[in-house]
Amino acid sequence: MQAVRVGYGEDAHALEEGRALVLGGVNVPSRLGPRAHSDGDVLLHALADALLSAFALGDIGDRFPPGDARFRNMQGPELLRLVLEEVREAADELALVNVAAVVTLDAPRLGSHREAIRDRVAAELGIAPQRVGIGFKTSEGLAPQHVQARVTVLFGAPGPRAAPEPA
Ligand code: C5P
Ligand code: MG
Repeated sequence: MQAVRVGYGEDAHALEEGRALVLGGVNVPSRLGPRAHSDGDVLLHALADALLSAFALGDIGDRFPPGDARFRNMQGPELLRLVLEEVREAADELALVNVAAVVTLDAPRLGSHREAIRDRVAAELGIAPQRVGIGFKTSEGLAPQHVQARVTVLFGAPGPRAAPEPA
């Protein structure tokens, strides 16, 4: 196994009225939420795909097809835990170094939820919150009925040189 692996994932959903908006396992008050079979947590779904891609394990659509009734009400954190079991086995001695994510959403503003989302994602991954960077962007009005997440992950050999804590 090489000393580092990078992973990338993304997910998007159309937004509609009367659906809960959940990002990184955190409920965000919003008029609109994702139209989805699952909870439509684009951040955790993109994260799960990023983790799988780091070890060329395919994607969550392979494992949890949207049409499959067994996964209809699966929450993002549960899906992430199942993926993590598989990824930890493939990762062997490599550890997750950090996560970098961007969520694109026009409204509501997400800045006040950043800490809660970051803390929840870090807790689900078992890493320090300082290793989870989450940015927010609007689409500048180009996609007002749309939520999207893009996530990169880095795995490296454990140790102070591979995984320094930010100052
Ligand atoms: O307009 P723009 O996409 O460049 O917005 C960037 C700024 O707005 C960032 O500070 C970002 O954190 C914040 N933002 C937010 N909630 C959103 C979208 C952007 O807090 N839904
Ligand atoms: Mg801008």
